[in-house]
Amino acid sequence: MPINIALDGPVGAGKSTIADEVAARLSILHLDTGAMYRACAIGVLRSGLDPQDEAAATACCEGLQIDVGYEKGTQQTLLCGEDVTGLLRTPQVSAAASAVAKWPGVRRKMVKAQQELARTHDMLIDGRDIGTRVLPDAKVKIYLTASAEERARRRWLQLQQQGQNVPMEEVLSDLLARDRQDMNRETDPLRVAEGATIIDSTDLTQEETVEKILAVVEACYGKRG
Ligand code: DC
Repeated sequence: MPINIALDGPVGAGKSTIADEVAARLSILHLDTGAMYRACAIGVLRSGLDPQDEAAATACCEGLQIDVGYEKGTQQTLLCGEDVTGLLRTPQVSAAASAVAKWPGVRRKMVKAQQELARTHDMLIDGRDIGTRVLPDAKVKIYLTASAEERARRRWLQLQQQGQNVPMEEVLSDLLARDRQDMNRETDPLRVAEGATIIDSTDLTQEETVEKILAVVEACYGKRG
């Protein structure tokens, strides 16, 4: 049985960075499932379709080939064979990803692909529905969260570092809108999975958060690495 660690939580909780670090320390892969929904969103936007249009967005996504590969342990996300890793993190793609991720047909396809990857690899998988839908039987489930203000502050810093000068109020209101969309959708909304350990990172450093997750993993699988 491969080692599978489910990591869920809202936008800006630091899942991606923390997951990269935890996976590296455990010498396992990190599957960023949000990147797969983002790649779908790029496909929909490129086709000139409205991500909020369920029928159009679902039909489009059903025709898209989404793959992930790894280069020196870092995930590359492919859309119909094109490496779109560098295009995933714009505000436009974020909003469109949250919209396409609402549609059951899109989720069905992504969940199946993610389950197949988890079946064959030792992985830490981060997303919104990993502990509830993708890997309900995972032995380790973590729900990583932080206050909305702290999450917005981290997102704002990240955007600044990428040269995107977005006002803080706009970052916070986008984040709250995505929270609403991710938590209130009908299919597999973001929630704390049964058996998950909740970690609130509002007042924790990155290292402290990593250590807390490693302690949960260690309690289950024993010391690794
Ligand atoms: O984690 P992220 O911000 O890159 O995710 C992008 C969007 O995809 C986000 O709005 C929620 C959605 N998502 C999801 O619904 N289920 C997942 N397993 C991962 C992401």
